[in-house]
Amino acid sequence: MSGLESPSIALVGAGAMGGALVRGWIEAVRKGGGLTLTVVEPNFDPELESELEAVGAILNPPDAGPVDVLVLAVKPQTFPSIVAGVRRFVGENTRVMSIMAGVTLETLCRAFNAQRVVRCMPNSPARIGRGVTAYVATPACTPEDRQLIEQLLEPLGAVEPIAAERLMDVVTAVSGSGPAYVFLLAEVLAAAAEQEGLDKDAAMRLASRTVAGAGALMLETGEPPGALRKQVASAGGTTEAALDVLGAGDGLGPLLRRAVSAAAQRSRDLGKA
Ligand SMILES: NC(=O)c1ccc[n+]([C@@H]2O[C@H](COP(=O)([O-])OP(=O)(O)OC[C@H]3O[C@@H](n4cnc5c(N)ncnc54)[C@H](OP(=O)(O)O)[C@@H]3O)[C@@H](O)[C@H]2O)c1
Repeated sequence: MSGLESPSIALVGAGAMGGALVRGWIEAVRKGGGLTLTVVEPNFDPELESELEAVGAILNPPDAGPVDVLVLAVKPQTFPSIVAGVRRFVGENTRVMSIMAGVTLETLCRAFNAQRVVRCMPNSPARIGRGVTAYVATPACTPEDRQLIEQLLEPLGAVEPIAAERLMDVVTAVSGSGPAYVFLLAEVLAAAAEQEGLDKDAAMRLASRTVAGAGALMLETGEPPGALRKQVASAGGTTEAALDVLGAGDGLGPLLRRAVSAAAQRSRDLGKA
């Protein structure tokens, strides 16, 4: 992340995700520029507070009014209770950026009488800066708004613009919920190893390091997963024997298609509710 061009930000909620954002912004300020930050959070981490002061950021200026960006990182169920208290941060030129799951652009625009609004969907590896965050912006957002929002999201990992809000249900089903599918893969791989005779702890160590290592290899080489899979599987070998089972008509492909479809449908239903 490059330096920050001294934006003023109000951050509401500084838990796992909000905290990760602040840590990244601190690094950015170290590289240059500045930051004026108001944090609305009952238990803001004192360590982050000292780090912000150490890099020269202006923290919680008195009587703060409209800011450049209002960032909403509370749980969706907390959202209705914070709106009235943080409206003072929204003026004519404020961009509203939300990472709350399921809260629509329309709800956000209405709550703050704002036009330049961005709805984001991060995922849990964002806590260590290795996530992927998809976002959709209202048409009123300018290219400069998008650039600033992408820069502010960088501490969470990769950033992916999405063309239409209706696709956020699929995004939720793939990358939002996706880490849970991968953790399940590690769990069932460990259980299978145990059934084949390995002790429980060794089975879990082998399975989880395999999942983590394969993910890191894919990311660091930039090679497509299909190519990496072929590198492991030689004709007539052990990997091929397993892939024949996983690739069968009732194998992993159709199963994941059903799982993703169920998650996307649940996201649509929750959106309507
Ligand atoms: N974690 C993920 O994997 C993930 C993935 C996709 C999207 N998201 C979205 O990211 C958002 C944040 O998630 P998170 O995991 O960072 O949750 P979190 O760790 O619980 O953070 C939320 C923070 O908001 C604080 N808070 C509660 N009430 C508040 C209030 N009235 N005013 C200001 N702050 C208040 C909480 O403080 P207390 O803890 O003291 O209550 C907590 O520090 C959620 O909307 C979630 O949908 C998260």
